[in-house]
Formats: sequence, C-alpha cells, structure tokens
Amino acid sequence: MASEGPRPLVAGNWKMNGSVAMLKEPRLLAAMLKDVKLKADVMVCPPAVILRRVKSVLKGTRIKVGGQDCHWNPLGAHTGDISAEMLKEAGCSAVIVGHSERRTNHGETDEIVASKAKAAQRAGLVAIICIGETLEERKAGKTLDVVARQLKASLPEGSTAANTVIAYEPVWAIGTGLTPTTAEVAEVHGLIRKELGQLMGGEGGQTRILYGGSVKASNAAELMGQPHVNGALVGGASLKAADFLGIIKVYT
Ligand code: 13P
Repeated sequence: MASEGPRPLVAGNWKMNGSVAMLKEPRLLAAMLKDVKLKADVMVCPPAVILRRVKSVLKGTRIKVGGQDCHWNPLGAHTGDISAEMLKEAGCSAVIVGHSERRTNHGETDEIVASKAKAAQRAGLVAIICIGETLEERKAGKTLDVVARQLKASLPEGSTAANTVIAYEPVWAIGTGLTPTTAEVAEVHGLIRKELGQLMGGEGGQTRILYGGSVKASNAAELMGQPHVNGALVGGASLKAADFLGIIKVYT
C-alpha cells in the first residue's frame, strides 16, 4: 500500500447496531491486532450507550473510539442529544457528523453539519465529516458539483488536518453492495483533495479523505489503493472483528 500522504484511518461505524453481547468483537479485534504492525489508525464508532463499555474493552490498545453524531451546543435543553464534550469525556477521540443517514432521516443540512463539526473541534475531537451524492445526482452527472458544494458548506472555518477527516460516501453505495468504479473513486477523491487545498491551504494536503460505502475485505485493497484515498469508513463489515480485520489488513 502506498505510504505517501497522511496516515490512513480505518473507522467502523456500527450505526444502530451493538449490545453488551457484541463487546466480544472489539475485544477479539484488539487481540488479533496486538502484534500486527499497522500503517493506519483504527477506530470503532459504537452507539452512544455502549461507548464507555467499548472504550474500557479497548483500554491499552491502539484502537480508538468515536461517536456517531453530536449536538452543536456543549450542553442544555436538547432532549435525546449528546454533546461533543460528553463524547470526549466518554473517551472518544472523534465523532462522525453529517452521515447521509442523518442528513436524510433527520433533515440535517450542510449548515447544521458544519456547526456539529465545529462543536467536535471545539471539544477536542476529530470531526469526520461525511459527504456524498445520491444515485439520482450521479445519474444526472452532478456528482462533482454536489460533493464540492457539500464539502465547502459542511467544513467549518478553522479546520485543520489534525481536527478534520472527510469521508466520501456515495449514498447509493451505502449498505447496497454497490461501489463506484476505482476511476470514479479516484475522480471524486482528487476533486476533494483539490477543494481542500483551496479551503484549507497547506493543511488540505494532509487531511485524510476516507472512502465509505460497501467496503469489504474483498474490495478494500483496490479501493484503498486509489490516489487520495486515506482509509475507509466501514459500516456492515465493521461489526464482526474478522470482517473488519480483513479490511484493516490492507494497511499491514
Ligand atoms: P456500509 O459499509 O454498510 O455500506 O456502510 C457505509 C457507511 O455508511 C459507513 O458510515
């Protein structure tokens, strides 16, 4: 695997999956990775209610823990929400914001996503900002426009390579088993890299750009091998340690 550019990150987004019974998976993953030399960072993002349990299982390992969403305020009357500060206190080092499932199911706009990303950075977390086109937009040839627009509007001012990760997740590739061609992935990641340069100056070249959407062990090497792909955001295949390991091993 090419070692140029920022250190890659392989992050598992458990979404609304996970239970105390599932704690055996991160435990297993940590054991399997114990003596493996890795050229990437590894993270799991479990549901909030088991964050502390997962963190405790992973204590003393290299595997980081992240949240899946946060509110833009640090505290207050926001029933059901969780702040970035709370995630930080629970042991998180990052939080996903603007996942397409939240944009769709909760009406999150780019403006909301930017405020959540800013909150994450304020709390000392890395904001993993998700962007990506729908199938309709891709078919209409609008992918690059949509991605550039989302990136610009979702990235808060003051973002740095240390506090920001971009995840390109084509909506139509999430949970479907479909993936863009490698040329399509390279095209979008190239665009994101270029736009990041304009938005963040020199920091843009060091900011990690993850690919997400139906990543599995069998396609990970090919997808991760594309220029400006600095890791993966993995959904379904991150739930079982053995499956997730198959993806992480691309970076051994
Ligand atoms: P899948 O890997 O299940 O397609 O999900 C991708 C995703 O949405 C990660 O955030």
